[in-house]
Amino acid sequence: MKILVTGAAGFIGSTYVRNVLDTSDDAVVVLDKLTYAGRRENLRDVEDRIEFVEGAIEDRDLVLDLTDGVDAVVNFAAESHVDRSIADQDAFARTHVIGTSVLLDAAREHGVGRYLQVSTDEVYGSIERGTFTEESPLNPSSPYSATKAAGDLLVSSHVHTYGIEAVITRGSNNYGPRQYPEKLIPLAVLNALHGDSLPVYGDGRQVRNWLYVEDFARAIDLALRHGVAGEVYNVGGPDETANIDVVRRILALTERDESLIEYVTDRPGHDRRYSLSSAKIRELGWEPSRRFQEGLAQTVDWYRDNEWWWEPIRSGEYREYYERQYGRKLA
Ligand code: NAD
Ligand code: DAU
Repeated sequence: MKILVTGAAGFIGSTYVRNVLDTSDDAVVVLDKLTYAGRRENLRDVEDRIEFVEGAIEDRDLVLDLTDGVDAVVNFAAESHVDRSIADQDAFARTHVIGTSVLLDAAREHGVGRYLQVSTDEVYGSIERGTFTEESPLNPSSPYSATKAAGDLLVSSHVHTYGIEAVITRGSNNYGPRQYPEKLIPLAVLNALHGDSLPVYGDGRQVRNWLYVEDFARAIDLALRHGVAGEVYNVGGPDETANIDVVRRILALTERDESLIEYVTDRPGHDRRYSLSSAKIRELGWEPSRRFQEGLAQTVDWYRDNEWWWEPIRSGEYREYYERQYGRKLA
């Protein structure tokens, strides 16, 4: 196949591209806008095995051009950080709603065989007890998740109205190498390595369902190739962990003292708990390869060994973001 992968200069998309190149003979074209979170460095080791196009998924002419002759589209392109969506949601609506609509139109016009929308468990909202299945109603809480849900609904509408062969995957919180340090785990790891405090929102008892990034990448590929058109597949990590316990484990792995924990003002509208049933994707043969304890230790080692990757981030736009978000300078 020739696959157009959007947003693949980011954290999960770049992992996905590596997985496709390692496991198939497929040709990969990447379309990425290179926002603050998109980095060519994330594809450095596979640069000569892909075609890279810098551009936005909402650019209709460009997308029509790129989807001509393509067999499949996998859409990772997104603004992915909840806190940024609370501060300013414009780019979220543009990319998740307009961008998804443009991609779907182009896929329809060129008769693209398969379309996969990479979505999130956040579209279901928060769940105090129990577990979300694919039949659970959408109840998003933040501008990030509301615009992602809108993208999902557009995909379903194109399946029903035009018969597009589209599949949606909804993943839980990913972690692993190359995640931008605005997210809890890389932020906490880098702050701990620098002896800086670790900000914990509210009481720190919010629960997330941590999924190693390579496991999500494998699930997406499985759903692209073997998922039933029109279906949604939840992909949840094997462990549910409260944020405060995540932070404590990171402090232990970096041999830092718990006095570095700093409770800060809670995120507005903060979802308390996410929990997914992955029974349906497991029926396709997927299972997670790593428990959180093991994956987190590997992730800490990766950040410790790859200063070349994070140093330019910590000395750039991220510094201003950090100050705006946390009301103090990065150490
Ligand atoms: P990321 O922020 O690391 O990467 C997003 C990429 O999309 C970047 O390379 C960015 O430049 C690109 N992009 C943004 N807007 C674009 C546009 N308009 N046109 C083209 N490219 C654009 O995000 P990530 O964590 O890798 O997330 C990838 C996808 O997975 C997103 O759709 C996200 O909603 C979904 N997801 C993420 C998680 C998670 O825990 N990170 C979990 C489940 C689902
Ligand atoms: O659940 C899937 C989602 O996971 C993806 O769709 C999103 O793209 C991804 O960003 C992630 O969203 P979260 O908001 O859950 O991830 P984040 O790493 O921002 O926060 C994880 C938890 O940690 C959340 O409860 C908020 C909390 N937190 C986060 C930061 C950045 C803190 O306590 N302190 C922090 O400084």
